[in-house]
Amino acid sequence: MTLARQHPIQVVAHRGASEEAPEHTLSAYKKAIEDGADALECDVRLTADGHLVCVHDRRINRTSNGRGAVSALELAELAALDFGAWKNRDESPDWEYGPGDPEDTSVLTLERLLELVADAGRRVELAVETKHPTRWAGQVEERLLVLLKRFGLDAPESAAESPVRVMSFSARSLHRVRAASPNLPTVYLLQFISPRLRDGRLPAGVRIAGPSMRIVRSHPAYIERLKRAGHQVHVWTVNEPEDVDLCVELGIDAIITNRPRAVLRQLGR
Ligand code: G3P
Ligand code: CA
Repeated sequence: MTLARQHPIQVVAHRGASEEAPEHTLSAYKKAIEDGADALECDVRLTADGHLVCVHDRRINRTSNGRGAVSALELAELAALDFGAWKNRDESPDWEYGPGDPEDTSVLTLERLLELVADAGRRVELAVETKHPTRWAGQVEERLLVLLKRFGLDAPESAAESPVRVMSFSARSLHRVRAASPNLPTVYLLQFISPRLRDGRLPAGVRIAGPSMRIVRSHPAYIERLKRAGHQVHVWTVNEPEDVDLCVELGIDAIITNRPRAVLRQLGR
């Protein structure tokens, strides 16, 4: 059954165009914008000196030539490292690491990503995921809102108009964001279906569900319940053509993918 979607399905570049370029680097986000992605997804963590940087893992070992936890390192220490060369080790066929602009493969601050989006020349939305926010007792959200304010994005007139949304597996993190900025859209990420929310409800005030593709494949009836409850559904991480087809069939609102170019092509865009 195809359920109604109120707008075209949105294609969101997960960690940038992260299949082709090293995740969470400026190069990956530039590529996603060039590819025509509607929105960019990024994970944010606080450095030891209070900057929000775009890094997925707690530690930087996998995606840089350094070691250690983001929370234990200062921005200047992270800025001295390379966040691009590891991608060659993984033999990405479409991304050639070379002597480009070093900024393209250095640690990316959320501030720099907001600048990139502001300069995109078209509307590009941003889905910011707060990582392990409970550890920081509100500091991640506080810093995020300060940055959004700097770009005039912290207090949209309405959720529909906001080019930024905040995602989290933590309902508490989303609650903090809404308490400070009621119109900023929030997305509750789901890795499994909590018995409490089985009927399609979401935590109070949240209007968007973010289930994994695994949930969508194994529990399409749950997705229909979410849609019938009036929620938008944004799915991660959708890389296979048959999964894209299923998302279209189920009326999914946003596809979060490592391969924005391929998904856009499949959707005929
Ligand atoms: O977009 C949500 C998705 O990114 C959550 O999983 O581990 O890739 O951050 P993860
Ligand atoms: Ca994420």
